[in-house]
Amino acid sequence: MLRSEWWRSAVIYQVYPRSFSDSNGDGLGDLPGITQRLPTIRNLGVDALWLSPFYTSPQKDAGYDVADYRDVDPRFGTLADFDALVAEAHRLDLRLIVDLVPNHTSDQHVWFQQALAAGEGSPERARYLFRDGAGPDGDTPPNNWESVFGGPAWTRVPRPDGTPGQWYLHLFDTSQPDLDWENPWVREQFHDILRFWLDRGVDGFRVDVAHGLIKKKGLPDYVAPKGGASMGGHASTPPYWAQPGVHEIYRAWRKVLDEYPGEQVLVAEAWVNPLSKLAQWVRPDEMDQAFNFDFLETAWDATAIRRVIRDSLAAFGKVGAPSTWVLSNHDVVRHATRLAITTDHVQGEGIGPKSPDKPNRVTGLRRARAATLLMLALPGSAYLYQGEELGLPEDVELPDSARQDPTWFRTNHERYGRDGCRVPIPWEALAPAFGFSPTGESWLPQPPEWAGYARDAQEGQPDSTLELYKAALALRAQHGLGLGDVDWLRGYPEDVIAFRNGNVIVIANVGTQIVTLPPGVIALSSEPVSANLPGETTVWLEAAQA
Ligand code: NOJ
Repeated sequence: MLRSEWWRSAVIYQVYPRSFSDSNGDGLGDLPGITQRLPTIRNLGVDALWLSPFYTSPQKDAGYDVADYRDVDPRFGTLADFDALVAEAHRLDLRLIVDLVPNHTSDQHVWFQQALAAGEGSPERARYLFRDGAGPDGDTPPNNWESVFGGPAWTRVPRPDGTPGQWYLHLFDTSQPDLDWENPWVREQFHDILRFWLDRGVDGFRVDVAHGLIKKKGLPDYVAPKGGASMGGHASTPPYWAQPGVHEIYRAWRKVLDEYPGEQVLVAEAWVNPLSKLAQWVRPDEMDQAFNFDFLETAWDATAIRRVIRDSLAAFGKVGAPSTWVLSNHDVVRHATRLAITTDHVQGEGIGPKSPDKPNRVTGLRRARAATLLMLALPGSAYLYQGEELGLPEDVELPDSARQDPTWFRTNHERYGRDGCRVPIPWEALAPAFGFSPTGESWLPQPPEWAGYARDAQEGQPDSTLELYKAALALRAQHGLGLGDVDWLRGYPEDVIAFRNGNVIVIANVGTQIVTLPPGVIALSSEPVSANLPGETTVWLEAAQA
């Protein structure tokens, strides 16, 4: 059968289940809520969905702490609800990618519970990274690694007799012990987990912390440089990220996926740079996509944006892979706010009432619309995060008492963390919880002014961000932009990014000076334009046919 390689140009919509749509009114989104709203998402014009975790979990890290990889958490529904969701997605011609969290389990997972009970030196302990402590009494952690969420990456557990015993590694929260991926038993388990979801009809997996599974032998000490995303992406390579041994794991997974008909994909969440190194995750026998976080983290600066686009196309092109563009997700400040931040901003820090920066909302949205129009004109795949099609900003006023991100607690309230981008999204301006839940319950409070962002308030309004996204997605498909090329256009000021992709000329004016437009029919623009292109605006022109 001829392969369509659909993922090369697909636009994929990230659903964050707890904040998408709550069908039973408990304030937490759920699977039936997603199924009910699928036609609306189909209507947006995307090709696929990625669902963040909905598995059985104590929810210490919003479901990225999985206690059973083969079941649905009752808070989100049942396996039957999941099957209904897959069926409805496929009926609507939407593919469905699920999240897989292989780096760590929940401490409530039976494997970890067995490891604790079985004691030192047992095969059960060998599934995780248990080590003796340093110092004469073993009361110092085995090494100096820090958790991504702040604080030490090791926790000590008592022996069955109650005396202090070994330590286990957790690159994230204490409730998320890291598995030992050198252990073949662990590898086998995950092959079965892949098959479990493939058998249920999923179209692929977004792989959490795909750069972290293998740790350097001997677990040597390491001090991370200041700055840079907390999830990685530093110039140097820490002994817990981007170790070469990780690649054989994905080569084996590729083979598991190849047992199935269809074109199921593997998507890497790997905070790795430079881009040439990240491209190793998408070599032909490994994964299909790797989120381009270098693009996401690029400041609102034309030279920097041009450079990252050029480098991305070159680096991924070298291994025959597309670039996977992304501007927002559930771990970063929403781009309608981030692009107006004027100080240095580090991923994972978040932004809140006491942050020194007060990003201007009008500037943020204007830049976000321009950035999205630029992104959707690029060849490759693109991911959208629920709510960005509404122009939703980060909730920068979220009360401290509502916060739930472990980052907030593990840094003693020094870093706000990621709750501000996770607030449940508004559907109907006048309904309780803006239509998120029938009772008005919401696990994080929604700002009252979000009524103005509600989907029903934007639907059919020509200037709305929602209609801009719909038009962009329709034109992108019509002109085949996702499978096109970037042909740079010269003669524009430094602040302007200009290229041709097939029949479309794309001009992004990142600066504030007005730019005269070349001939062509204006197909779409992020702000109203005439013969001139105002500042902080992107336009798509249909080129006159040669
Ligand atoms: C990346 C996920 O996107 C994030 O939300 C989570 O906290 C960490 N991985 C740990 O699983």
